[in-house]
Amino acid sequence: MEQTLVLNIAQLLTFPGLDAPRRGRDLNSVGMIQDAAVLIEKGLIAAAGPRDVVLKTTSPEKCRIIDAQGRIVLPGFVDSHSHPVFAAPRILDFESRLQGKTYAEIASLGGGILSTVDLVRRSSEEALAASLKRWVKKFLESGTTTLEAKSGYGLDWENERKILRVLAQADKEGPLEIVSTFLGAHAVPPEMKDRREVYIQRLIEEMIPRVAGENLARFSDVFCEGGYFSKEESRRIFEASKKAGLGLKIHAEQLSQNGGAALAADFEASSADHLDFADEADIRALARSNVVACLVPGSNYFLSKPYPPARKLIDSGAAVALATDFNPGTCPCWDMRMILSIACTQMKMKIEEALSAAIVNGAWAVGLGKTHGGFQAGKVADLVCHEAEDYRELPYYFGFSPVFWTMKKGEVVFRRMP
Ligand code: NIG
Ligand code: FE
Repeated sequence: MEQTLVLNIAQLLTFPGLDAPRRGRDLNSVGMIQDAAVLIEKGLIAAAGPRDVVLKTTSPEKCRIIDAQGRIVLPGFVDSHSHPVFAAPRILDFESRLQGKTYAEIASLGGGILSTVDLVRRSSEEALAASLKRWVKKFLESGTTTLEAKSGYGLDWENERKILRVLAQADKEGPLEIVSTFLGAHAVPPEMKDRREVYIQRLIEEMIPRVAGENLARFSDVFCEGGYFSKEESRRIFEASKKAGLGLKIHAEQLSQNGGAALAADFEASSADHLDFADEADIRALARSNVVACLVPGSNYFLSKPYPPARKLIDSGAAVALATDFNPGTCPCWDMRMILSIACTQMKMKIEEALSAAIVNGAWAVGLGKTHGGFQAGKVADLVCHEAEDYRELPYYFGFSPVFWTMKKGEVVFRRMP
């Protein structure tokens, strides 16, 4: 059958209009339609809206019918920040933190990012691919249909390429769509500890141009933080990345204020992420720019740290996105519904703002805003039917709020067992 028709939708959130990231009051307009239907053709939305209106555009006998059984349907989540290629959880780090050590102390004692780098370097491409496969399944089961995923646990050419190849292969196999980001500037590798300038030169002159030349990533990211990369070093990495044609992302003001947000605004980066310690000037600079302010409050929750200034960012007019930051060190959570819950209860985001941030602005943060994250005709048919009758239940129930089914490019790729 050529067409697929989704019927019996109690509430459909369409996220209408606007050809740009949402900011200010626009974050509230989710475009809720009751008793809705969606018509899909060739993996794209053909029509979406009130059932009667959609039914006028087709004849149901010609369609494969999918019944939402009185539940809600939303576009799939676009999780715009993750580090999903790693070899093992960091449970020892977790235990140390429970005993009072900080993330920075644990890193200086041999835990942290570099301990994951050690394990990833010793893992084969096949083993990492198998591990990623397991996470891909969990993302789809939780309603995420597009994922931004970073390298950054290799920190030399061979191992960074290994991670990016694992991501490319997983994207090719589907059904989760993966947008790759090169994060060679995640930390200075241990063997270069006393030669950081040589590593930075290598990033700028060799690795970044090669990543772009071999089409291994769409974005380039840098961890701008004390003990990692300074603002000036981040600027040089941005310049090289821009020259190579990669989009720009930055881990900014995560553990302290280092100037990453201002840098992102100067370069009109695609996103500045974390922003926990962003000050008033940073917030103003982001609000004036097209940079998406990508907040990852699962990491604040897990590290027991104060939350980023979501309200101030939104009220100042910044385009805020929400993402998981799924990784073994700061956020072992793949579930965007948990992030919605944290965003609403801890950062006082409105339900509609949180949903727009997790879907529409997530898509803009990964360069897919024109094609993903809504139900306008021609957009990719990524639909999630949640076990809920009212969309406000999504951040309300927490701990377990199941997905009924997930559809990617018009095909059901996950269905919950009754
Ligand atoms: O986004 N801050 C840098 N990167 C990750 C953490 C990575 C790790 O601890 O393994 C983050 O929090
Ligand atoms: Fe991160």
